[in-house]
Amino acid sequence: MSEGAILTYEKVAPKERHSVSSACGAGDVFIGFALNGKRDDKSWRARSVSCIIARFLVGLICSMAQKLVVGNWKLNGAFATNEALLGACCALPRVDAAVCVPFPYLAQAVSRLNGMALGAQTVSEFQSGAYTGEVSAEMLAEMGCRYVIVGHSERRALFGEDDATVGRKAAAALRAGLVPIVCVGETLAEREAGQVMEVIGRQLGAVLDLIGAQGLSRSVVAYEPVWAIGTGRAAGADEAQEVHGHIRRWLAEHGASAAEMRILYGGSVKADNAASLFGMPDVDGGLIGGASLSARDFMAICQAAAGGNF
Ligand code: 13P
Repeated sequence: MSEGAILTYEKVAPKERHSVSSACGAGDVFIGFALNGKRDDKSWRARSVSCIIARFLVGLICSMAQKLVVGNWKLNGAFATNEALLGACCALPRVDAAVCVPFPYLAQAVSRLNGMALGAQTVSEFQSGAYTGEVSAEMLAEMGCRYVIVGHSERRALFGEDDATVGRKAAAALRAGLVPIVCVGETLAEREAGQVMEVIGRQLGAVLDLIGAQGLSRSVVAYEPVWAIGTGRAAGADEAQEVHGHIRRWLAEHGASAAEMRILYGGSVKADNAASLFGMPDVDGGLIGGASLSARDFMAICQAAAGGNF
């Protein structure tokens, strides 16, 4: 997004925010009805409880309708460049955005999020103790993280993380109140051998074993085909949709609240292919590597996820 486009967003933002809040205001209208009329002490508590539930459900529906765009900076950053990057990124209406930065920059990023959420790129499966070099989910939560990526293919391939380890890391994240972004995806050889869903089923199954269907329902799944990561060769929109549809069915068959879960696509998402990928019914957003290091590209991808012009 150009500087001009960001300025345009700044101008439009209050109106857009109003329209978002009026869409979400349906629950408030409902609550208004519930509270109308004379106060009846007998039913007052029951009404209050229904109001809280209604507000929660409307909030959930409003947030689920929105795409989620997560930047994964990987092993990149320095104080000065982070400052410039974060300074030029901000949350847009109708899309949830987050940045997963290297551990040393969490403190810097947390005060410069401009409405975006904070995440980390991995987490220890352990809570505390003699585990030199590890960072616990509780520490990430204390730093202000909402998300943590687990099972990224780079960690699986380069750092020996197996399916069960990924499951334990997801469990650790949930224990601390974080949302794990569980990465799954096949290599090119596995795709060519027709094993896409077999591989993904195995990867998800190991996580399910550790966190159960309820835990999965509280997680985000990211489909990242290994052959698309950092190669400039993204999955086609139809190709991504096919796998996302399979993943959602797999989640439903295994007892998760599949319809409400977010399934992100990751792998060479750029400003020029984001809209077609995000236009697919089962693609609920993206996990963005290289393009998240450019404010212009990341904001253009967020804009595509918001589904509109600013
Ligand atoms: P690229 O967007 O650079 O292909 O990376 C994708 C990724 O690995 C995000 O986690």
